[in-house]
Amino acid sequence: MKLDNLSDLHPRYVEAFKILDSYIDDFLKGFSSGVNVPSGVRPKNVAFIGVGGSGIIGDIASAILSNSGVSSGVFKGYEINSNQWDAVFAISYSGETAETLEAVLGIVEENPRVVAITSGGRLEKVVKKIGGDVVRIRPGIQPRYALPSMLGATLGVLCSMKLIPHSITKYIENSRNFLNTIKSERKFDENPAKRAATRIHGRLPIIYAYDRVWPVGYRLKCQLNENAKMFCHIGYLPEALHNDVEGLPDDFIVVVPRIDAEHEGIRAGIDALRDNLGEDRVMELRAGGEDFIQEVFQLLMMVDYISVYLAVLRDVDPISIPRISGLRRANKYYEKVFRRVDGFIG
Ligand code: F6R
Repeated sequence: MKLDNLSDLHPRYVEAFKILDSYIDDFLKGFSSGVNVPSGVRPKNVAFIGVGGSGIIGDIASAILSNSGVSSGVFKGYEINSNQWDAVFAISYSGETAETLEAVLGIVEENPRVVAITSGGRLEKVVKKIGGDVVRIRPGIQPRYALPSMLGATLGVLCSMKLIPHSITKYIENSRNFLNTIKSERKFDENPAKRAATRIHGRLPIIYAYDRVWPVGYRLKCQLNENAKMFCHIGYLPEALHNDVEGLPDDFIVVVPRIDAEHEGIRAGIDALRDNLGEDRVMELRAGGEDFIQEVFQLLMMVDYISVYLAVLRDVDPISIPRISGLRRANKYYEKVFRRVDGFIG
């Protein structure tokens, strides 16, 4: 079993597993930095700006806020709906992402409270210039590998703003046992992430996800793309049961991240799908946990490990992303945004 003989691994995999192994510590460090940001007035509506490995933080935070009476919006482009946001989180690991920078410049006139979650770059300068807060996160890694750090920082600030309780750190701390079950040294038979990666290997993953677990499904999609260099499709439940299923390709596997608290209709829909397509074609991902936050956090850890196990199985580099980097260099509009931002910073 290839995944149980990792002693002679290429340094790129060792590096990837080393970063993943610090998931909980990175989250808690990020949280400590975020919670130190001054609380200010409790916001009633919060926007999250960011793309890619930084943008997913907005999806997760928004899912966590969804039962808190606070309205939230997630923006993954150059513009943000003008909605008189009380607080805006600008999340960019590099601080050098044109979409995020332009979206921030676009809301300066409205004067909301802006918090940057970043390792530096132009974003830090812009947000300092407009009098916002900057939470600096773990430097020197790929943005998507900094999810724990950026998520911790964001939830720390939301906690300081009194939008989520401090007790969530307890659930993250309590996730250590689960983390140990998915690490690379844990053998295949007792490792749900290795087993899941092996089932996906050689097939086209079709991820189906529903409401509050959507960010986990979307994270899995993006990690399979960027770490395992795989194409993969995602559909929304129950909507996908009304269209998507008719177009399933030949060698697919449906992957469904699940939490305990799901609508009865969703549960029945997944049961019907399994009966219809066969056990072998539908795989659920469950991590358990005492609270929604812990379930989602553990699922996020699991999908990240799955993606690196798939990189090992497919013999691909789980760190470098040549096409994305090339597109960043080739996009002529980015230079225009940078010039505008540099003019603003002065
Ligand atoms: C790379 C990655 C990308 C970046 C995206 C935006 O690891 O995950 O999806 O996150 O290109 O860059 P940042 O996060 O620096 O704003």
